[in-house]
Amino acid sequence: MKKTIIKGTGRYLPPRKVTNEDLTQWMDTSDEWIEQRTGIKQRYWVPEEGGVGTSDLALEASKIALDRAGWTPEDIDLIIFATLSPDIFFPGSGCLLQHKLGLETTPALDIRQQCTGFFYGMATADAYIKSGMANRVLLVGAEVHSTGLDLSTRGRDVTVIFGDGAGAACLEGVDTEKSIGILSSCLHAAGKYAEALMTEAPASRVNPRLTVEMFEQGRHFAKMDGKNVFKLAVKRLPEVSHEALDKAGVSLEEIDLVIPHQANMRINQFFQKTLGIAEEKMYHNIQWYGNTTAATIPIALDEALEKKIIGPGSTVLFAGLGAGLTWAATVYKFPENSISR
Ligand code: UT7
Repeated sequence: MKKTIIKGTGRYLPPRKVTNEDLTQWMDTSDEWIEQRTGIKQRYWVPEEGGVGTSDLALEASKIALDRAGWTPEDIDLIIFATLSPDIFFPGSGCLLQHKLGLETTPALDIRQQCTGFFYGMATADAYIKSGMANRVLLVGAEVHSTGLDLSTRGRDVTVIFGDGAGAACLEGVDTEKSIGILSSCLHAAGKYAEALMTEAPASRVNPRLTVEMFEQGRHFAKMDGKNVFKLAVKRLPEVSHEALDKAGVSLEEIDLVIPHQANMRINQFFQKTLGIAEEKMYHNIQWYGNTTAATIPIALDEALEKKIIGPGSTVLFAGLGAGLTWAATVYKFPENSISR
């Protein structure tokens, strides 16, 4: 039976650093409020003048991941691109990335699962690999949030949270009886909470898709019922983690690092306590990047590998929740002889 392993990872953050203090020039907020409520100190945004899309960030992260995997773009059987902020309404950013990688006919698939996009992407890549439909999958999570945020005080609860960025992973099928690679994936969705976190427009159910009235009401900006999402996150994250551990046949004690989605430091502190895992086994980087949605997990993974917090032989639990609502967890074990930096 084929196992899906990570051959290389990469990340890319645009160079424009935006601190909490910087945000106070546009809206009524403070460094103290943002840091206390979310743990965020800064985030990176694409240039204010525009011209940089999600696939541009993805390209940079992908080039690094490909290089570390020892692949050329031609080695890729399938591109999976997870984003809620595609460059354009359609076609998907996967197609744009494919072209930017210099490829002619390689299939490309977009996943619109927001904060769990990378989880849905890993599960999809795993299924493609196990079924024999692909053996080398480039999976990217990338977002440009900054061009879709309400910079006025009206949008401050959402705007202060989000950052731009990209992370990529090269996933490959290997024939082995060993218990390595993606050991389990648990995916969930509850569409009844769709309005708890959404960007409504442009909307095909409205004609035209973005009216002047909608624009003036700011309905093209993300809206969130933050308290409700927070409550659901602290309940669902431990639940889905146990489900993924059980499915993988791995105990919590065997987990070397938990890489949770980075939506709010307080959510992850609750999650860590409920799960009952040591503080130092919980990875946090929200301070530096904010919430980069589908890019969060691969950015954190790449960083944890670079810092050698994890490496060959490590077992990692990934867990996340976000718009949809969707929530998910994955257990992954690195082979003993791979991914050295
Ligand atoms: O990644 C997708 C999943 N998303 C999440 O998991 C996010 C989950 N939710 C959260 O992280 C939190 O709900 C937030 C950080 C978004 C908000 O924190 P909160 O503690 O739930 O604050 P709140 O929205 O209830 O607002 C409390 C107060 C309000 O003022 P009043 O009504 O008490 O006077 C807000 O107007 O804080 C005010 N406020 C702000 N003040 C300064 C809201 N945003 C800001 C801000 N700066 N940026």
